[in-house]
Amino acid sequence: MIARLEGADIAYDDIGRGEPVVFLHGFALDRTMWAAQTTGLAGHYRCIAVDARGFGQSPPAAPFSIDRYADDVAGVLDGLVVERAVIVGLSMGGYVAFALWRRHPGRVRGLVLADTRATVDPPDTRERRRELMDVARTVGPRGVAERQIVGVLGKTTRERRPDIVETVRGIMTRASVDGIVGALDAMLGRPDSTPTLATIAVPTLVIAGDEDVITPAKDARALHAAIPGSRLEILAGAGHLSSIERPAAFNAVLSEFLHAVESGTAGSV
Ligand code: MLT
Repeated sequence: MIARLEGADIAYDDIGRGEPVVFLHGFALDRTMWAAQTTGLAGHYRCIAVDARGFGQSPPAAPFSIDRYADDVAGVLDGLVVERAVIVGLSMGGYVAFALWRRHPGRVRGLVLADTRATVDPPDTRERRRELMDVARTVGPRGVAERQIVGVLGKTTRERRPDIVETVRGIMTRASVDGIVGALDAMLGRPDSTPTLATIAVPTLVIAGDEDVITPAKDARALHAAIPGSRLEILAGAGHLSSIERPAAFNAVLSEFLHAVESGTAGSV
């Protein structure tokens, strides 16, 4: 489905019935990365998976910023007349989830922060993002996919699951150059979310793969320590894309958390 917002058309899936859960994808990916979650949870929850502008079926539309991505999600929820939802964001999707909490806190019933971080980029990451912009412009999305694959997938997945490697390569190769460059620019310009963490007053689950080399488990522990009442789950044998690499384990911890949110036993403040 497509939400026609002011300034951008945003594609999304809306599957299942129950309490709404919104899924926000990572960099150079799209909403199809959540297939195992939306399929697995749609029997109990309304699963809304959104393509950020420039990815999947959302056409690129400048300007690109993490705040703009967050406002797009709020716009999709407006169109669906969904007041509040649990927001699940992986990596770049987590940056968007922080922005949603800052800009639209009333829309957030709970947060699931997977393989993400609150801090801004160190200088070497900023440099790598600029190089990746050049790769996108000169080689195209396939070049970006080849650069990203090694970092985003854990060693176990790369050695044992060629099917997952191909799926991720396929999604990234379908991304648009403008979307990739726009997202890199958006991430370069994102604010430090560290001061936001202490303000989070909804149930929060932090998830990380123990083979994640982009946002290592220590980043997840830092989030958990700074977010009042949060839970932490480390998934063994998963890299940065823990939801794709260990879908059953990811769904198990997510389902348990969603159930706790619904029943009011998820902790937090
Ligand atoms: C992602 O998976 O979204 C990226 O690793 C985020 C980033 O590059 O900071």
